[in-house]
Amino acid sequence: MKTEADPTALAEDIRDLDVSDVTVIVCSSCRDETASDARPRAGEFLAQDTARAAASENIRVRQVECLGNCKRRLSAALLRDGCWSYVFGDLTTESGPDLITGAKLFATATDGILPWRGRPDSLKRGLVARIPPLAIVKDIS
Ligand code: FES
Repeated sequence: MKTEADPTALAEDIRDLDVSDVTVIVCSSCRDETASDARPRAGEFLAQDTARAAASENIRVRQVECLGNCKRRLSAALLRDGCWSYVFGDLTTESGPDLITGAKLFATATDGILPWRGRPDSLKRGLVARIPPLAIVKDIS
């Protein structure tokens, strides 16, 4: 029987979920610490690493040219319909598995919020912003 204290139980639960409504967006234009403009850029390597990590998962991975987070180096975002959106920075070219772990964790959310517990450290330390879904944004009165 699975218990909440059993870390493998969480992993098994996540594996069984439909994660098809979560999208990982990776900035392919981000430079590494050398700030070199040479191609391929570090962001492209992160995008490839993320796509590899998602290969056996039903998670969309897409690339974009700049998330407007250039000062925090390698950047990516997690999106899910009707949920908060998350932007991360300070990632590395090997952060793909963390992004996919975060995407699978996000798929478990019933409140539209990426859970803190179980989130990889890189997605805790690297959080830049979270953006609410339009449905919960209130008018200014
Ligand atoms: S170049 Fe990647 S966030 Fe701007």
